[in-house]
Amino acid sequence: MSQVKTDSVNRSLSPSELYKAMDEELKALKDSKAYKYEVLIDGRMGPTVNVGGKQVVMLASNNYLGLANHPDVVKAAQKGIDEYGYGMSSVRFLCGTQKIHLELEDKIASFVGQESAILHSSCFGANEAFFTAILQSDYNLANYNDMIFSDKLNHASIIDGIRLARIACKNTLSKPYNHNDLGHLQELIKDTKSNDNYRLKIIATDGVFSMEGDYADLKALTSLAKAENALLFVDDSHSTGVLGANGRGTSEQCDVLGQVDVITGTFGKALGGAHGGFIAGKASLIEYIRQKSRPYTFSNTLAPMITMASIKAIDILSSNNELVQKLHANTAYFRKSIQEIGFKILPGIHPIVAIMLGETQTAQILSNELLNHGVYIKGLWYPVVPKGEARLRAQISASHSQSDLDKALMAFEKCGKSLKII
Ligand SMILES: Cc1ncc(COP(=O)(O)O)c(C=O)c1O
Repeated sequence: MSQVKTDSVNRSLSPSELYKAMDEELKALKDSKAYKYEVLIDGRMGPTVNVGGKQVVMLASNNYLGLANHPDVVKAAQKGIDEYGYGMSSVRFLCGTQKIHLELEDKIASFVGQESAILHSSCFGANEAFFTAILQSDYNLANYNDMIFSDKLNHASIIDGIRLARIACKNTLSKPYNHNDLGHLQELIKDTKSNDNYRLKIIATDGVFSMEGDYADLKALTSLAKAENALLFVDDSHSTGVLGANGRGTSEQCDVLGQVDVITGTFGKALGGAHGGFIAGKASLIEYIRQKSRPYTFSNTLAPMITMASIKAIDILSSNNELVQKLHANTAYFRKSIQEIGFKILPGIHPIVAIMLGETQTAQILSNELLNHGVYIKGLWYPVVPKGEARLRAQISASHSQSDLDKALMAFEKCGKSLKII
């Protein structure tokens, strides 16, 4: 608690002092506009949603393929309950493994081009699991270090995974490299070489970066990792089901499917949007993680209905690439049109479209105005992004109709002009 004065922590805080300090910090968050408010959505997630009795175009969800309420996915979840029950009341290794868990592991592994996979209850947990499982101190007896090179814009779960691994094992070190800057990464690796005391080198990157909508150059990173004898870890949460002609992720997009060492991802975005995560890689690595992952060992199995619905989501994607192609077409249309209206966006091909506005206040006012004009969109501003780089983040879905997109674009034009942004 940053608001607690040093003189008051010379003795232990009473619970009422603790709550008072929390109230002060919450007020400070509100005063600095850093407080996160939640808008109430009435009913289901979809290309449009009901907010306060009004149907508005949803441009803020990760429902990239519209599978969150696809009738076949919902039916599969219902079948999951009918055939396998609501819950298992267990972690996997006690009595929480059904054949559908193994089926989903096989399907997701082959979908992302890997030998084997292990489910976790979230990708956040999967990322924490990966780093802590393979960098455990009982595995580090000799006089050497492990080094993780991590992109500076990596997701919080990678950062926390690395932090946990570093706490658990003093031999684990990490160096952040500038975002998507291979030259900087190479320099850091070169520095490491002057000290040959490193056992394991890991390069860790998001496949797609959620604040920018750009993606890692996995062609270059796989070559670099090979040349430097490093293990390449990619969190493809925003890319599985999204990038590549068949939605197989950033490695398909970069033409290196099957060449990345470790891929993690989520079932909570394109692949149905409920929850669940996975780690995919070589069979021996996955078997090792199954023994060593604390989030896997000590947290409940994925519910049968989510498991069945996730299997269905992969089956839909594997049967044809229509949804992925529709998503790509919708994204290209929105990216082109929003620029034609006069907004500046970060370049790219991903359905995350960062609409750059500069000042925090501009982004806040525009997002409120857009909601009044029937568009639900979220803004990002300092400290989430650098000062002066406030933006709105649009997220396009295959389920958006032409008229949903046009309605949103018209609202952007109207609000942009009335606020003198364009
Ligand atoms: C890159 C990335 N990794 C991991 C996660 C966490 O995924 P989950 O919701 O499955 O924990 C997210 C979700 O925001 C993400 O964007």
